[in-house]
Amino acid sequence: MALNDHFDALVLSLGLLLSALVGLVSALVGIVLSSFAPRTTLINFSSILITGASAGIGKALAVAYAQDGRTLFLTGRNRERLIETQRECEAKGAQVEITTIDVSDEQAFSKWVEEADKRKPIDLLIANAGTSGSILGTSRTADLKIREMFAINVDGVLNTLLPVFTNMRDRRRGHIVVVSSLSGLFDVPTSVGYSATKAAVFQFTTFLREVMRPHNVRVSVVCPGYVDSNMTRARRSLGSKMPFFMSTDAAIKIITQGIDENRGVIAFPLPMYLIAWFFRSLPPSVSDFIFKLINPTKKLESWNSLS
Ligand SMILES: NC(=O)c1ccc[n+]([C@@H]2O[C@H](COP(=O)([O-])OP(=O)(O)OC[C@H]3O[C@@H](n4cnc5c(N)ncnc54)[C@H](OP(=O)(O)O)[C@@H]3O)[C@@H](O)[C@H]2O)c1
Repeated sequence: MALNDHFDALVLSLGLLLSALVGLVSALVGIVLSSFAPRTTLINFSSILITGASAGIGKALAVAYAQDGRTLFLTGRNRERLIETQRECEAKGAQVEITTIDVSDEQAFSKWVEEADKRKPIDLLIANAGTSGSILGTSRTADLKIREMFAINVDGVLNTLLPVFTNMRDRRRGHIVVVSSLSGLFDVPTSVGYSATKAAVFQFTTFLREVMRPHNVRVSVVCPGYVDSNMTRARRSLGSKMPFFMSTDAAIKIITQGIDENRGVIAFPLPMYLIAWFFRSLPPSVSDFIFKLINPTKKLESWNSLS
């Protein structure tokens, strides 16, 4: 081995070690700081809007928040499944209004949200609807799907927040929650489109928290790892490995507790969060090297059969 190669290997190892330390230390400091942060008073939500409530995480959140005296505005595209959620929430005493308008339909969806807010001022807004999908660079259809992901995961979030945003600020009351993903913090190139949409809403929401803080409006971003839902079920059945896979109930407990405690970032499970922070802190030359080693794009073709 030439001297240069030894030097490269040494720099790389030091880089890896340093990045690992920085990633772990900053994640641990974050966790310790957040556990010492003063506890905020609970908001007694009376009007809650949740998008993507016809299935998975959104449905489970709707049912968890359903109770006497609360109004729930719920959305999804599949009417039958949404009505099923409505029934479960009404059985717990909540008043429920539903719509099947697509979140990416800016005009129609924003109008519906605006009207809901006029009828019953929303104090908890959960922008949860989302889609994952095919992988760029594997087929023309897969490339086109990326527009749909941005329309739903990014524009859909804006279409949900923007109509209520200023009203909440003026009322000086409310909590905005956006469901991103741990893959918005960092992911391998197998889900480049999905990760990019989730990274966009992650950044938007973390900055929004600071913007809204002086106006007494709370903002949180939720970053789940792998949670049992329609989104993960299909891939799992094809043998896709999902470390630290979590039940929907366990995820809902963490999310609702995070909202109660007004956490800025509600990320779970912890080991995946630490891994995400570790990779996020790597210099590009090191992550590039790791990608070359593990070659995640090998799996693209088989995963893309799901799109
Ligand atoms: N499950 C996970 O492991 C995981 C991990 C990280 C982040 N997330 C995020 O968590 C959120 C919820 O996902 P999930 O796991 O619960 O998936 P899911 O079971 O597939 O549910 C997705 C929900 O979003 C709705 N939706 C999708 N596109 C929509 C559109 N254009 N207009 C209106 N509603 C739309 C769906 O409604 P219809 O089915 O009626 O169309 C459904 O109610 C998503 O933002 C997802 O990215 C999930």
